Amino acid sequence: MSFTVSGVLDMSSPAAKRSAYADVRARLEALLAGERDAIANLAQCAALIQQTVPGLNWAGFYLARGEELVLGPFQGKVACVRIPVGRGVCGTCAATREVQIVPDVHAFPGHIACDSASRSELVLPLTTAGELLGVLDLDSPEPGRFDAADAAGFAALVEVLLSGTDWTGLSRQASTARE
Ligand code: SME
Repeated sequence: MSFTVSGVLDMSSPAAKRSAYADVRARLEALLAGERDAIANLAQCAALIQQTVPGLNWAGFYLARGEELVLGPFQGKVACVRIPVGRGVCGTCAATREVQIVPDVHAFPGHIACDSASRSELVLPLTTAGELLGVLDLDSPEPGRFDAADAAGFAALVEVLLSGTDWTGLSRQASTARE
């Protein structure tokens, strides 16, 4: 199997977008085949998204640790490490377990700015057996970058990730920021 991933895909029309997300989903299935390690699969998923989905400046995961989300595998600029559940876009997604489509991050109360280039954001929950594992966070420098089709496309990727990964070794316990 080849793990070559070419450049970003065309999402310039609704049909192209549907086809592109189906393509990314197939590539993710191939990439994760035969590997169930949680950190490896999260890292591969973040890298695949950043390499193939156009218009992103950050793609990655925040993982549930007690009452906080803690930075997980990602692609993009260095980011804030800890987000309390209920705070910002990611924390709101974690608290409600609902997908957050934010066309203008500056209009979202409590938005946490990690990269000042970000203008819009999409966050999806990762849950297994009713338990929150974390969230998938996508940031874009374009206002209104994400619509329902993007949310559906990323939800399909999350499904592949959830079913193809062994989550038992991933701690959900609180961790400490410092001694
Ligand atoms: N903007 C997010 C914080 C994470 S960074 O975008 C990588 C939020 O408001 O939760």
